[in-house]
Amino acid sequence: MANQKQIYKELELTYREGKDHWGKINVSAVNRDIIALVKLVPHRTILEVGCGKGTLTKDLVKIADKVTAIDVSPTAIDAVKQAAPQADCIIASLEEFTSPAVFDVIICAEVLYYIKDRQKAIRKLRELGRYLVTCHFIFSPRQVGLGSTMYEILLLQFKMIKIIPYFKLRRLELNFRILRKLS
Ligand SMILES: C[S@@+](CC[C@H](N)C(=O)[O-])C[C@H]1O[C@@H](n2cnc3c(N)ncnc32)[C@H](O)[C@@H]1O
Repeated sequence: MANQKQIYKELELTYREGKDHWGKINVSAVNRDIIALVKLVPHRTILEVGCGKGTLTKDLVKIADKVTAIDVSPTAIDAVKQAAPQADCIIASLEEFTSPAVFDVIICAEVLYYIKDRQKAIRKLRELGRYLVTCHFIFSPRQVGLGSTMYEILLLQFKMIKIIPYFKLRRLELNFRILRKLS
């Protein structure tokens, strides 16, 4: 099984080879749902974890005073600097990222799959922000989802504010956009 460093190297390679398939379909609908959740709570400062090439970042900078976008892939960060020059774009993993200030909202969309120690990652999200918007496949026949256990852990840890069911494929594959209170 790949270790964490290898997973991040593979993500960088995926971007270099142009094989990043995410952020290419339904982007405006996805962004609209996320922005609607963000707007339910104070959102002056936003941390976007795993920003990819900045398809959402460029919309976030329009609604917040300060957007910090982090990703483990240097190629993705180069792209987000072009897409959203107003954002602070940083090559960093969630695990290593630190901030002196707590963010109003954290967005962590389709990222937790790649992190091996998810409990630790969730604790880190808790430290860094007041509210969290997450999107992840929950049940997936292709085994890329977080699994129901993970979903329950998230439910237990944070107060749920609102859920937007996203889409359903082949009966089992569900993706939810969820806004939670962290602190
Ligand atoms: C499936 S893509 C999703 C991109 C974007 N958030 C979206 O929803 O379109 C996952 C992104 O998370 C990044 N990533 C994975 N693990 C990460 C970590 N621990 N910290 C920061 N970024 C991470 C990857 O490099 C990739 O850009």
